[in-house]
Amino acid sequence: MSAPHPSGRDDALVSSARGASIAPGRAVAGEVRTTILAGLAASSAYIPPRFFYDDQGSRLFSAITALEEYYPTRTEAGLLARHLPAIAAATGIERPTFVDLGAGDCEKASRLFPVVRPASYVAVDISDEFLRASVAAVQRRFPDLETYAFATDFSERLELPDIVPTRRRLFFYPGSSIGNFTPDAAAAFLRSLRDQMGDDGALWIGVDLQKPVDVLERAYDDELGVTAAFNKNVLRHVNRLAGTDFVLADWRHVAFYEPRHHRIEMHLEAARDVVVAWHGGRRAFRRGERIHTENSYKHTVAGFREQLSAAGLRTVGAWTDPAEWFAFFVARRA
Ligand code: AVI
Repeated sequence: MSAPHPSGRDDALVSSARGASIAPGRAVAGEVRTTILAGLAASSAYIPPRFFYDDQGSRLFSAITALEEYYPTRTEAGLLARHLPAIAAATGIERPTFVDLGAGDCEKASRLFPVVRPASYVAVDISDEFLRASVAAVQRRFPDLETYAFATDFSERLELPDIVPTRRRLFFYPGSSIGNFTPDAAAAFLRSLRDQMGDDGALWIGVDLQKPVDVLERAYDDELGVTAAFNKNVLRHVNRLAGTDFVLADWRHVAFYEPRHHRIEMHLEAARDVVVAWHGGRRAFRRGERIHTENSYKHTVAGFREQLSAAGLRTVGAWTDPAEWFAFFVARRA
């Protein structure tokens, strides 16, 4: 998820419990359209995964996390149930500015409040509408907590607005969303977190690990077809943002593990010969031709430690489940 905000607005500080002003952001609808059309016109067509997350897409993603096949959410929850006090202690931060990256419905982070005891809570996510509603609910539940909602696309780098407290920042990035970045983008993003954490901050990150291919592939192609709906919904969103005329029934969901890059790939495959048109252009897709919509990289504990180190971050703790399917890392500035 990154730079131009897909709703057509750039970074927008949308609310604060203490009445911080709303930064309206820059209109970037044209840039969004240009980005999408460049991907559709490319010889191997692609749609950047940040466009999954309109309001509907965010809800579908929440539904994915409840699926039996989607092991990351429950494995991560098991790790928290077992190791939360140790992980929180390893951050070494009392009363942090708790920065929740990819906050979604804010549920995961807010369940940690009794142990993390944040002085302030900063929810960051790409989906503006969804984020507003989620943070409003947090504010109702924790009226004394200073809360901020920051709608931005941070897939290339994160830059928090000046209004966010700089002291004791604890960046919380669960769910292995780092896996949706290309390796270069992940490196740049980790460096940007390092730059903004100060000497008294830390990163707490959840990372999906390599495991049997059948487990991985089932997680991204579930029997109920929720992941297929999530994948296809991107076409509706793109139709709205770029004025394309995708017909969802023309496309089928494809997901597989690509062992060379250690990643799940998701694509949309044309079920028949299709022409997609937009104002000023069109593209013909032959039956079987694909649009690449997502990569989800799977790591090893040693490999991710090295990635953190290359970004100037020192791992102070790592926790995995007995099967080593998922890991939490806590890292501070090297
Ligand atoms: C958000 N991200 C970590 C999910 C993943 O597993 O890569 C997105 C997702 N795509 C399909 N299912 C879930």
